Order: sequence, then structure tokens, then C-alpha cells
Amino acid sequence: MRAVLGATGVSVIAESSAAALDRSTAQRTEWTTGSPGGAAPVVVPVWWTADGKRNGGWTGATVLLRNVRLGDVEAYVRMRCDPVMMDELGGPLPRTGIEAKVARDVERAAADSDWIKMIVPDETNPDQVAGTVTLWSHETDGEVASEIGWMVLPEFQGRGLAKWATREVLERARDDRRWGLVHAYPAVTNGPSNGICRSLGFTLAGEEEVSFAGRILRSHHWVIDPATDLA
Ligand SMILES: CC(C)(COP(=O)(O)OP(=O)(O)OC[C@H]1O[C@@H](n2cnc3c(N)ncnc32)[C@H](O)[C@@H]1OP(=O)(O)O)[C@@H](O)C(=O)NCCC(=O)NCCS
Repeated sequence: MRAVLGATGVSVIAESSAAALDRSTAQRTEWTTGSPGGAAPVVVPVWWTADGKRNGGWTGATVLLRNVRLGDVEAYVRMRCDPVMMDELGGPLPRTGIEAKVARDVERAAADSDWIKMIVPDETNPDQVAGTVTLWSHETDGEVASEIGWMVLPEFQGRGLAKWATREVLERARDDRRWGLVHAYPAVTNGPSNGICRSLGFTLAGEEEVSFAGRILRSHHWVIDPATDLA
């Protein structure tokens, strides 16, 4: 079976149907962890079509997850400095400092300390970004915890991209074994993000005041053990 990401969302199609698609683009992968020796690439068996049923078929472009790059500044600005994108995260962040933030993230991704994956909706245009999923660990009250977050730009929303990309990263975390329990803190009013947690198998641990970029958000605290809970 193969997951197909179409204009109306993700659907799973039978292998026989998938075989009718251009197989040359079906298994393209890019997952550069920067770990010594390089990790095995993750297969991204998802098809993206921008035009749905036009011409009676799928375009066959493949979605990729790749590490953040220095050239992703514009995508960061659109995700972090936009009032709509940041509505559930306390409002837009200042434009100043985004280049430095991207540079720090590139370093962390290259060092494999954080997984900062950009969602590329069409592998033939790797500079185009639809969103991002980030998995990182931090120390709170002397305890190390892993946390995951996601963003998808408005024109790509509502088609299952965030859920798919989050599942891919959690599957990878399950196999990597270093992350342990993974926590997520969407604002209590963030319908899509809470929907992602619920449907991927996270357990709701409670409601908390969470600090994000200097602001306090009323958030749901979700937790998942990717080894046992991933739906
Ligand atoms: C949250 C966000 C990443 C979702 O991206 P997306 O690609 O549109 O999400 P998906 O299409 O994968 O949908 C995710 C789930 O949310 C559900 N959903 C969508 N809108 C919803 C709503 N208003 N209420 C409840 N659930 C909703 C979908 O049905 C889907 O669940 P399902 O597959 O079980 O049906 C995107 O809206 C975004 O980037 N928002 C701004 C930034 C942000 O809030 N980031 C998250 C911080 S925690």
C-alpha cells in the first residue's frame, strides 16, 4: 500500500494502482542526519499532486523530509513572523534574528543533536518548503525531555501533511531509540495540532502554562512513547 497526498488529502491506494504511477520517483528519499557514517535514509512513500484529478491522474511528485538549510530563511520568516501562522503561539516573532536562528538550527541538525526537518512538497524543487517538523531535547528541572513541534504553511494546510511528517519523524525516533518519551504542547485552542496528537496515539497528560519564545501559552500536554504508542 502507498499513501497518496492529493488536493483533498492523504489517501492510501492499492499497490497495483501505485504501480501504474511513475515508479522512478516513488522511493526517492532524503534524510540526512549528519551522524557518523550517515544513517540509512528514510523511505518517503508519499505522493503529492498539486492538481489532483486534472488530466485524470496523479502528477507523481514525491514529498521529502530534509534537514534545514541556510537558504530556508524565507520559509522561517513565513512560519515564525506571520500573525496567522503564529496565532496559536502567542503572535508573530520579530523578523530580526531569523538568519541567526536558521544558522543555529542548521548547526544542530548537522550535529544530529536536533532533528529539524523541512517538508518539501515536490522533490524536483527541494528549495520549496511546505512546513517543518522539529524534534529536540531540553533540560527542565534537571530532567531531560524530548519535545516535538510542527508547522505547515497556509497553502499546504488541510491535506494531511503535518500529520504525515510528524508520523515519519516519530517512526524514525522509535527506531533511533535515543529520544524516549516525546512531549508536545499545542495551545488548548489549536484544533489541528491537538488533532494530530490525538490521532497519532499521544496520551493527554494534562493542561499546563508553557513558556514559548518569551510568552506563556495555555497548552495541552501530550506524550507518546514512539516505541509502543504510535498509531
Ligand atoms: C497545525 C498545523 C501544522 C496543521 O497542519 P496541516 O498540514 O494542515 O494538518 P493536517 O492536514 O495534517 O491535519 C491534522 C489533523 O488535524 C485535524 N484538524 C484540522 N483542522 C481541525 C480543527 N479545526 N479542529 C480539529 N481538528 C482539526 C485534521 O482532521 C487532521 O486529523 P485527522 O487526520 O485525524 O483527521 C498548521 O495548521 C499550522 O502550521 N498552524 C500554524 C502553526 C501552528 O499552530 N503550529 C503548531 C504549534 S503546536
